[in-house]
Amino acid sequence: MSAHSLHQAAASPLRAIRAKPLKGRFRPPGDKSISHRAFLFGLLTRGETEVEGLLEGDDVLRTGKACEALGAVIERLAPGQWRIRGPGLGALLSPRETLDFGNAGTGSRLMMGVVGGHGVTATFDGDASLRKRPMQRILDPLRLMGAQVLSEAEGGRCPIVLKGARDPAPIEYFTPVASAQIKSAVLLAGLNAPGVTTVIEKEASRDHTEKMLAHFGAEVRVTPEGEGRRIELVGRPELHPNRVVVPADPSSAAFPIVAALIVPGSDIIVEGVMMNPLRTGLLKTLIEMGAEVAVLDKRLEGGEEVADLRVRASALSAVDVPAARAPSMIDEYPILAVAAAFARGATRMRGLSELRVKESDRLAAVAAGLKAAGVGCAIAGDDLIVEGGSPRGGGLVASQMDHRIAMSFLIMGLASREPMAIDDVAMIATSFPEFRPAMERLGATFE
Ligand code: S3P
Repeated sequence: MSAHSLHQAAASPLRAIRAKPLKGRFRPPGDKSISHRAFLFGLLTRGETEVEGLLEGDDVLRTGKACEALGAVIERLAPGQWRIRGPGLGALLSPRETLDFGNAGTGSRLMMGVVGGHGVTATFDGDASLRKRPMQRILDPLRLMGAQVLSEAEGGRCPIVLKGARDPAPIEYFTPVASAQIKSAVLLAGLNAPGVTTVIEKEASRDHTEKMLAHFGAEVRVTPEGEGRRIELVGRPELHPNRVVVPADPSSAAFPIVAALIVPGSDIIVEGVMMNPLRTGLLKTLIEMGAEVAVLDKRLEGGEEVADLRVRASALSAVDVPAARAPSMIDEYPILAVAAAFARGATRMRGLSELRVKESDRLAAVAAGLKAAGVGCAIAGDDLIVEGGSPRGGGLVASQMDHRIAMSFLIMGLASREPMAIDDVAMIATSFPEFRPAMERLGATFE
């Protein structure tokens, strides 16, 4: 396979201008979480795995490259359609070159789980944003399983050289934060452990790894435990190749959805959006705010419920978003903050400490963007408070190498009185390469 790479040198600025009503239909790209996992399961399953609807964003393509370095043979058959020939569990190679994950936290962390549970050694690295992100949370459980960290940058950061355990110990692990990435790294390492690996999470995080483990034939039991879940995986299964159909990413759908809510007169249909209840926190919150969203034609696609969403411009009211909802909308707070800026009253979003360790410090980046647009906001502890009204706009927002910050403030510019400018939108290609043309087809104007 060939992966394009994002140029880090030349910044690419963009401005969004107040739009006429948005109209039309559109299908968001494939889900990023499932796309990363499709490559990883293809690597870990001996034989041919076919994938349909894969997100061809930079983050996912880098995971594909890394899978090749560990022994997979990967081919692109048509747009979104890929074939992976995996060496299978227990038969991975030590990559000769550094695995460069670019901007991708998910790809790097899940692959650390894979490497940690195999007798291979790999070097993990990425861009300036990835090098700032905490990896200790992944390395801690992997060490308990027998993996060794041969070298790491200060504070457990990339570049990291990880030597996996040939016979990883099956452990019972209580994740310190509700993170699907930590859970998945432990489960992927546990796949090659002789015994049952258990992960306990105090709040349920997205369950794509568990579902895909079962889809490929592993024995996995999920039971409720308190407010969260206990996941038990029987190690060293015979994985069977299976087709993966990737539904549309609700985290990418969030941008046209909020755009249609805040641009007066809009009426759009967003097609095939995954409705997994561990991913629908934003939709629930927007509906509480008074959003007119009709959920149409619910159906199953690739083992997930999906639906078409008809979204009409709506008068929104402020809400109080409980901390317990964070895992089901963790990537959607920047765009929710934009919706809140157009709502009547002050919206409080609680318990956002994890936003500080995403592709950027999203709490700080969102507050800075809102201030640039003349929107009143405050950070109180781990909460974000946004004063709604009719945003002036007009500011220059620093994207901080964060795709969701760039897209959120471009969406704001479609409805604020003055245009919004973003210093660099290159990172949008990590998760939603077609963002600009897709939004333009609905009627948005960028320059
Ligand atoms: C992801 C999990 C989330 C999310 C990320 C994708 C995944 O991170 O922010 O974009 O695919 O498992 P955490 O699990 O660390 O919260």
